[in-house]
Amino acid sequence: MAGSPQTPQVVRAEFGRLYGTPPRTFRAPGRVNLIGEHTDYNDGFVMPAALEFYTYVAAAPREDRHLQLYSLDFDQGRLIDLDSIGGPPSDHWSDYVRGVAAVLEGEGHELPGANLLIKGEVPIGAGLSSSAALEVATASALLGLSNLELERKEIARICQRAEHQFAGTKCGIMDQFIACFGQPGHALLLDCRSLDFELLPMENRARIVICNSNVKHELASGEYNKRRADCEAGVAYLQRGLPAIRALRDVNPAQIEEYGARMPRTIYRRCRHVVTENVRVQSAAAALWANNLRRFGDLMFESHRSLQFDYEVSCPELDLLVNLAQDSRGVFGARMTGGGFGGCTVNLVDEGETEAFIETIRREYNAATGLHASVYVCTPGAGASEVGE
Ligand code: GLA
Repeated sequence: MAGSPQTPQVVRAEFGRLYGTPPRTFRAPGRVNLIGEHTDYNDGFVMPAALEFYTYVAAAPREDRHLQLYSLDFDQGRLIDLDSIGGPPSDHWSDYVRGVAAVLEGEGHELPGANLLIKGEVPIGAGLSSSAALEVATASALLGLSNLELERKEIARICQRAEHQFAGTKCGIMDQFIACFGQPGHALLLDCRSLDFELLPMENRARIVICNSNVKHELASGEYNKRRADCEAGVAYLQRGLPAIRALRDVNPAQIEEYGARMPRTIYRRCRHVVTENVRVQSAAAALWANNLRRFGDLMFESHRSLQFDYEVSCPELDLLVNLAQDSRGVFGARMTGGGFGGCTVNLVDEGETEAFIETIRREYNAATGLHASVYVCTPGAGASEVGE
């Protein structure tokens, strides 16, 4: 399943109606993370893929120093003055645009005023990174209009900073990075310390099936920052015995067992998740190269249990979706994907069994919760780009 091929035309037409000039159009994708959860801000490893759902930003310069925004999804506009752009998060969709513009200006890239029109295809609040898609599409548009070329790694860093300062989530680099670097048909194995990456071909007999629980638990953002703090506390404990470590990335499972007894139990479990998850990502990459989907899938299930019991970022609806997948024929693996506390699971399903799997999930999830699961069958999409006429 993908976004509509008509979206760029719709965006251009709406832009013309609203602002009376033709725009340039830019887009960036949402993502699904196959494995490597809550490892990015610990300098660890992740394996996301871009989705064929994009956020579009159509843009044209204006004479003054204002950004006039309009979101087709919220049917709402906002005027931002580039000369007084700071201020705290306001819990409004425009914070992502304001944040990117503010960080760009703060780093010395002078931006022109602009009219912008935004249309997102990435489901919002589903853990598929609609916010990173908006940030990266915005950065691409503002840089495009300014005739500024920045390296994609730099764009990812700028957008991450915008999220820290203007959305209040101390996120890692994964979402912004894959929104910049996604490649059709590939997952990306990223070392979040060096930002070196490897593209992994996903053309095999399995389908990536995303099941959206359609629940979003309120705790998400606060709990996210707490997990990050737990990891930092863990590093401080571990440094007493292992003074050379800088992050949980530098610790192996044997060391966690050796030094873990001296930490508070919760911190120990948080650290154990991160350290074992890093190992799982590397094993998953090897399994993918060997086309061993069974092994890859087992690692996905292990990842989920670790997130459920050690990191405690799952929820009953996500656990149910994973349990249903585990009991279904043709499913190699399943796990929650993204920050957690609701949102989606990612499932690797044998091509021939995909339809039956989707039917089972829809029926059983509804029977158990009264909720409807949305299901998307995905092929990895492309990173940010300008969209031609
Ligand atoms: C969110 C953050 C990412 C990452 C994931 C968890 O999506 O934005 O940086 O930490 O959660 O893996």
